[in-house]
Amino acid sequence: MENLEGLLRENKAWARKMVEQDPEFFERLVNVQQPEFLWIGCSDSRVPPDQITQTRPGQIFIHRNIANMVVHTDLNLLSVLQYAVDILKVKHIIVCGHYGCGGVKAAMTRHSFGLINKWLRNIKDVYRYHQEEIEELATDDEKVNRLIELNVKEQVLNLAKTSIIQKSWITHKGPHLHGWVYDLHDGVIRPQLDLHPGAKLDHPIFEYDNLDEDQPG
Ligand code: CO
Repeated sequence: MENLEGLLRENKAWARKMVEQDPEFFERLVNVQQPEFLWIGCSDSRVPPDQITQTRPGQIFIHRNIANMVVHTDLNLLSVLQYAVDILKVKHIIVCGHYGCGGVKAAMTRHSFGLINKWLRNIKDVYRYHQEEIEELATDDEKVNRLIELNVKEQVLNLAKTSIIQKSWITHKGPHLHGWVYDLHDGVIRPQLDLHPGAKLDHPIFEYDNLDEDQPG
């Protein structure tokens, strides 16, 4: 499929096929979505969440950005998170990175890329926390891929550091948080970390003690 018209043509064919297989497919989804999963993934075109997990429309709520980051000042991410947790009440949140991630590779250089420096800065912080472990590895590929695994874990922890998650852990005993890395070489996802409701964080300073009070954010 090489041109824009191709996208629309394929869309029509897909819509037709879905109705053939299941005449009520679209009608059922028109008024309600009840996904069990929130996916926070990289924008990379080679990692399409629903395709690699064989999920259908209505099953995953999705947020994607460069290098699957959970940044505490990102209103876009936080709005998606709040809606997914408070309204949709998703059971699982998955942060999924991928080996060979260009965003992580770029963050490991000292090259200036312009505006995106501001975003990559968050990954450089993860590098700084784990520099010793990363630099012990022999090759550049190994270093990048280790940072990709560590970055996914840090982003899961970043989720757990939001009052949105901590409050939901108290009131709904959920969601469960997961850090995964997708391998472009074989298409297989490799789980890295699971955080269950009420899990201890890496430092108690991040655990809010007044979540009974109804405050925004
Ligand atoms: Co990427």
